[in-house]
Amino acid sequence: MVKKVYIKTFGCQMNVRDSEVVKGLLLAEGYKLTDDEKKADIVLFNTCSVRQHAEDKVWSALGNIGRSHKSQVTSHKLKKIETIDTGKKVIGIIGCMAQNYKKKVFQRAPNVDFIVGPSDINKIPDIIEKIVHRPSSIVHRTFCEVNDVRPEEIYHTGFREDKKHAYVVISEGCDNYCTYCVVPYVRGRLRHRPFKEILREIREAVDCGITCITLLGQNVNSYHDAGRNINFVGLLRDIACVCGIKELTFLTCHPKDTTKELFEAIRDIPVIKKSLHLPLQSGSDKILKLMNRGYTAKRYLEIVDQYRSIVYNGQISTDIIVGFPGETEEDFKKTFELFRDISFNGAFLFKYSPRPNTQAIELKDDVALEVKKRRHAELLKFQREVSKKKENRR
Ligand code: 5AD
Ligand code: SF4
Repeated sequence: MVKKVYIKTFGCQMNVRDSEVVKGLLLAEGYKLTDDEKKADIVLFNTCSVRQHAEDKVWSALGNIGRSHKSQVTSHKLKKIETIDTGKKVIGIIGCMAQNYKKKVFQRAPNVDFIVGPSDINKIPDIIEKIVHRPSSIVHRTFCEVNDVRPEEIYHTGFREDKKHAYVVISEGCDNYCTYCVVPYVRGRLRHRPFKEILREIREAVDCGITCITLLGQNVNSYHDAGRNINFVGLLRDIACVCGIKELTFLTCHPKDTTKELFEAIRDIPVIKKSLHLPLQSGSDKILKLMNRGYTAKRYLEIVDQYRSIVYNGQISTDIIVGFPGETEEDFKKTFELFRDISFNGAFLFKYSPRPNTQAIELKDDVALEVKKRRHAELLKFQREVSKKKENRR
């Protein structure tokens, strides 16, 4: 009988695309997809580790699967579950949490059959195949090579959830090492996909009716194909020439790598959406330094001014973290004032969450939760008013 697969995706657009890739690979092996977790033979959680809250959602979803199988399970020991519960679903934790926790996932969630980190998603069909056909041959199955280069073929299965819009990964991993961020540890060092493969994927998508493209990477504007000496702006210019594309966007830019040339490209290339997502994170130089962001508040403001002077009516959105270790009222005031003065079109606001392996874990998480909540609420209130005003003006 054909096995049915259910994939639940947590986290960012990169994970949304990775889930699509995994679905494409499994469809090619003859599996069926289902939107109903209860009917699935194989349940995959594509997970996120960016904040504690994202991980908590996965642990609780895993607990819920356990409960629905309680009648079949008489022991908490993994081996016992595998031998007694023969009719149980195959459960896989894939993505960032798999990499972050590795085998510890099995200790906390003994109902999990396998874990696969973001760099190994090409191995998922093979692993599932082995578990389905030889259920008790291996107890822990784990693949988590963080710096592996994904084989290019995985991006070319042709499967896409949306028939008009496509996410296209241009680079994997991150080399910035912002001190709060788990990404370099779970997605590995920065690797750029070859220019010709990105263009091939985009042409394939457009041939299937896709008209809008969003390029994805942790730091898209550092893109570089060394073999061809093509940078991000060169990539944008070539993609824009692909006949049939109506809209081109990209996520996420790092302020330290923005250039006048990039803003001119946004202005000059008609299909590029006139909007920029440029995470600020903090308006205090002291905190920016502790975060290892590589710019000051003054420099960030100069970049925004340059963008706005080049891209007429250009939109700009940002990310802010409140309550980073050592953030005083004075530091927060600087963030609030810069946030207010720039007046963003949109903002994602986060409370600092200590992450294992990161450099900031060494610092004392000394801003009380109540204080984080208040600072978060202040920014949110301001942003809601600004967004409403900007919406009404359009
Ligand atoms: N705590 C809170 N927010 C974080 N982000 C990344 N790491 C953390 C963390 N440890 C936020 C940043 C980033 C966005 C994707 O998530 O603002 O830009
Ligand atoms: Fe979450 Fe970051 Fe992984 Fe995306 S890359 S899923 S935001 S930890």
